[in-house]
Amino acid sequence: MPTVHFRTAEGRTIDVPARPGRSLMRAAVDAGLDGIAADCGGCLTCATCHVIVDEGWFARLPPPAADEESMLEMTAAERQPTSRLSCQIVVDAALDGLVVTLPPTQY
Ligand code: FES
Repeated sequence: MPTVHFRTAEGRTIDVPARPGRSLMRAAVDAGLDGIAADCGGCLTCATCHVIVDEGWFARLPPPAADEESMLEMTAAERQPTSRLSCQIVVDAALDGLVVTLPPTQY
């Protein structure tokens, strides 16, 4: 199973197993990771699943759809150039080793 590395705002790295075909948000929530609220459950209406993707990985992800682009303007922490909503990132084997940073807040 792919492993995704979440960096916390405090500088820790937490390794999370991520099932292919499911979202990165779901992997974080299932692992009980603090820092991903995901209030809407992946319906793309809350922007509380914000992550900042490591620059080296960002271009390897499919680009955000228009709906995600709109919601990225609603994140509590300032949007960064490589910000994404983790509910819209579908894990596959090629994402093994993906590195993302949690924003300082989701609210
Ligand atoms: S979980 Fe709500 S927008 Fe991603």
